[in-house]
Amino acid sequence: SSYPERVKKVTYAYKDCIVPSFTDKSYLEDLANFEVRNDDIFVISYPKSGNTWTQFIVCKILKNYHNMDNQHIFDKVPFIEFPQRHLQMQTENTVPGMYEVAKNQPSPRVLKTHLQSPLLPDDIATKKPKIVYVARNPKDNAVSYYNFSKVSPSLPKYDKWSDFFSDYCQGAGKYLIALLWLISGIDNNSLRHEENVMFLKYEDMKKDLRGCVIRIADFLGYYLSSEVIEDIADQSSFAEMKTNPKANPDHLATVKYRNQKGKTFMRKGVVGDWKNYFTVNQNNHFDSLYAKRMEGTNLTFDFTL
Ligand code: A3P
Repeated sequence: SSYPERVKKVTYAYKDCIVPSFTDKSYLEDLANFEVRNDDIFVISYPKSGNTWTQFIVCKILKNYHNMDNQHIFDKVPFIEFPQRHLQMQTENTVPGMYEVAKNQPSPRVLKTHLQSPLLPDDIATKKPKIVYVARNPKDNAVSYYNFSKVSPSLPKYDKWSDFFSDYCQGAGKYLIALLWLISGIDNNSLRHEENVMFLKYEDMKKDLRGCVIRIADFLGYYLSSEVIEDIADQSSFAEMKTNPKANPDHLATVKYRNQKGKTFMRKGVVGDWKNYFTVNQNNHFDSLYAKRMEGTNLTFDFTL
């Protein structure tokens, strides 16, 4: 079970988890001691699974969240393991880390993380804050991730989809990165089945956004009128979020997208785009890895709608 060289350069292994190099070990140790509050709301996902979308909906449900309606979603929702103010951008505006920003945020806080469960703050087990966990079918996840690698300096640079695909799948034993994360994050650890955890799927949000807004609001204990729910669903559509400068990083002045003109964070936002990337052979290969990995998890995904 080898671990692709390109991936090794931008990640490291810690406590049997894969961590991006931008979060160093001492930062992780601090995070283990991060003081969780009972009324915190964590939005947790594997990268490129709809985290930003979910954060946006959660902030809307919390209504005029900390009077921050005019602020950027990244300022409202600290990405706790990120050492810089803005995600995936080189900015001069560095602060001691989003961990520090989060410490100073009034309650209730909405916090974003991609950390696997063994690396989450220890307090989570005892404080039991609400966790909204969002997952996406791994074929579309891979395609989204591949496109993101073209713009994010914290990922390897890939010339071809086939190179990315091979890294994504390589090491069917230990480092099948996405699927391993999926399993270790939500199944081995049974986080998915805890009472304080809501398990949400990207595909379900695509199928029935309004219904998902209701589910999230219920889970968070907010009872909203159907008008408000309608409004939140409208504002959270792909088209609305794409054109809302506060809802995504595309409009941030500090964004340096690896000089890739025309590349956007709000890329396509659909289910099934993987069909435009996967060859028949890749698909067969992936299906067999997937079947092995998912065995016994009781977890299924929609790959098309
Ligand atoms: P694509 O690259 O497939 O378009 P994350 O926020 O976890 O990094 O996930 C990013 C993915 O979510 C991107 O997928 C992005 O377009 C998609 N996304 C963000 N907001 C969305 C929305 N309102 N509706 C549908 N997809 C959305």
